[in-house]
Amino acid sequence: MGSEKSVPVTFTDAGEHKSIDLPLMEGVLGPKVLDVRKLYADHGYFTYDPSFSSTASCESKITFIDGDEGILLHRGYPIQQLAAQSDFMEVACLLLHGELPTAREKEDFVNSITHHTMVHEQLIHFYRGFRRDAHPMAIMVGVVGALSAFYHDSLDINDPNQREIAVHRMIAKMPTIAAMAYRYSIGMPFNYPQNHLSYAANFLYMMFAMPTEPYRVSPVMEKAMDRIFILHADHEQNASTSTVRLASSSGANPFACVAAGIACLWGPAHGGANEAVLNMLKEIGSVERIPEFIARAKNKDDPFRLMGFGHRVYKNYDPRASVLRESCYEILKELGHGAEPLLDLALELEKIALHDPYFIEKKLFPNVDFYSGIILKAMGIPISMFTVLFAVSRTVGWLSQWKEMIDDPHMRIGRPRQLYTGHAQRDYVPASKRP
Ligand code: CMC
Repeated sequence: MGSEKSVPVTFTDAGEHKSIDLPLMEGVLGPKVLDVRKLYADHGYFTYDPSFSSTASCESKITFIDGDEGILLHRGYPIQQLAAQSDFMEVACLLLHGELPTAREKEDFVNSITHHTMVHEQLIHFYRGFRRDAHPMAIMVGVVGALSAFYHDSLDINDPNQREIAVHRMIAKMPTIAAMAYRYSIGMPFNYPQNHLSYAANFLYMMFAMPTEPYRVSPVMEKAMDRIFILHADHEQNASTSTVRLASSSGANPFACVAAGIACLWGPAHGGANEAVLNMLKEIGSVERIPEFIARAKNKDDPFRLMGFGHRVYKNYDPRASVLRESCYEILKELGHGAEPLLDLALELEKIALHDPYFIEKKLFPNVDFYSGIILKAMGIPISMFTVLFAVSRTVGWLSQWKEMIDDPHMRIGRPRQLYTGHAQRDYVPASKRP
């Protein structure tokens, strides 16, 4: 990254012509960036960008997205290659440490994650405080936040060893906490993690095994789960990652910050979309009703949106959706679901939307959530758990970004400014004198 040049920005303010030189920064890929950090201190102006459409909030070396071309790279590696040739634990090492691990490094990492999967027995009592019909994301926010009350030896963010332990603990415990949320909701006993299983297989075991009989994890399910984890692992400065970064910028402990990320992810405009897609497909019900829903999505007076379509950054096919689209057929065939009515419906919806002028003009393409739900449903994962799975996987991205931020010497507390449009100063009026 460099800022060797500066560019003049000229404008007129109250009739006065102004010219300000702003440093121009250039990354390895992506648009150049105007550095406005000293704009207020030197010239008394703020910039206005409420939803950060044009604002680089940090410098990062982890993930790159070219939304126009539909490109997603993790540490330079295309997501398609990682999904086809890597596995989630290796991708986690890559995101956290910057390079693909050697065989020994990977073995050590997997070993450490495997041996941190159990949660403190007392944490188990927390679950009883929730209603059985609580949404598992509500349980995730509560229980992950509560981890900071249990692991006092990994709360000091200034100690690199404690940071590393916190990272391993969270990656390891997230599937355990998630599976427990599901088991609680269906009134089944919790399953302890099994160290001989892979990350994905262990998660499936904890979700579905019955104490009364042996449970064999299907290799097809294990591979599908692992691929879904890879595809959701990181996505640069999205809303939940920015939430984690902002929360961490105050010096809060990483367990609390990841709980904040989970809360943000829950929304239907973000990670909650995979659940919303399935509910939408069920509501549409048949191919004949698709035009009705397309019309609703286009109607400005109707809040309905086509879930799984559109993206702030991708103005092209989301590359993760392309991978999952391919996987969908493969997995459904291997799982013996041959014809999944919801997949047929989804494909027809996609076809119609992709040819509709409204969606073409606004560059609304299917995103990752459009297909993930169909695969997860075929795997027997309950709809309310879809966003939870996203959170399990994204924990790796949140923590990679968190680590990068803590190591950044320029890190300061995040503190956006505002354009104030309320009352100017006025005097207090006693109640007896108010109209
Ligand atoms: N259906 C119908 N119209 C849409 C949709 C949609 N899914 N998405 C955007 N539009 C329209 C929107 O009404 C607006 O129209 P106009 O310019 O006439 O006002 C235009 O497209 C631009 O939309 P926007 O809301 O300004 O775009 P955004 O970048 O703020 O929002 C988004 C991005 C993902 C929140 C939005 O596309 C959306 O709500 N999609 C459905 C929810 C969804 O699938 N979310 C998952 C995102 S990917 C995974 C993740 O991030 O977790």
